Amino acid sequence: MYNKGTIIPGLIIFVLFVTFPIWFNGLSAAPAPKPEMPPGGEKKCVESAEYMRANHMQMLNDWRDNVLRDDNRTVVEVEGKKYRKGLQQACMQCHTNKEKFCDNCHTYAAVNPYCWDCHLTPKEAASKGGTR
Ligand code: HEC
Ligand code: HEC
Ligand code: HEC
Repeated sequence: MYNKGTIIPGLIIFVLFVTFPIWFNGLSAAPAPKPEMPPGGEKKCVESAEYMRANHMQMLNDWRDNVLRDDNRTVVEVEGKKYRKGLQQACMQCHTNKEKFCDNCHTYAAVNPYCWDCHLTPKEAASKGGTR
């Protein structure tokens, strides 16, 4: 009844089949993005990196409402340095390279926030001599 000649190959095929999602993903997924950390040497974000990864979109919405609806431009303090709530005034002060930080992930995740239709990237701001 038991045929050694088919058990081993059968087992190998079974293992390959069961682990298919693991090695298939390893082969086909693009490498996860590595956003460039602030070139200014800052070590901390306004919240933990984990929190920021999950919630920065919501935080930006909340900040916009705080500033524009409630006129609340509270200052956030990170490592003793103060930043005014805002996209240019906080986030981009540390994450000065939008292309290598924000875009790095967004391209990977295929999201394209329209914020930059109006808000200047640090690069644009520098070339126009503005702050926003
Ligand atoms: C149609 C133009 C436009 C678009 C698109 C836009 N904004 Fe704004 N945003 C403004 C203007 C104008 C202000 C007011 C600037 C001020 O008074 O400080 C503002 C203010 C803000 C503020 C508060 C203060 C500041 O200067 O940063 C935040 C935060 C903000 N926007 C985030 C965003 C985000 C995030 C997006 C994309 C999801 C976005 N905005 C898209 C025009 C725009
Ligand atoms: C004081 C400088 C500073 C400010 C202001 C700041 N960040 Fe950060 N941000 C950092 C640093 C440093 C890290 C890495 C922190 C770590 O690894 O613990 C980081 C991490 C992140 C991450 C996670 C990146 C990753 O791959 O783990 C996101 C997303 C992010 N920031 C978005 C934002 C946004 C959006 C804003 C504005 C609402 C902002 N940051 C404001 C310095 C800053
Ligand atoms: C660690 C990766 C990562 C980094 C770094 C990052 N983002 Fe994002 N961002 C995402 C992902 C993923 C989404 C889509 C989330 C979703 O749809 O739930 C997103 C969505 C957004 C959205 C909402 C867009 C929409 O259409 O809903 C805004 C606004 C945004 N990011 C702003 C920023 C800004 C500004 C920076 C740079 C300061 C930044 N992000 C850096 C991963 C990142």
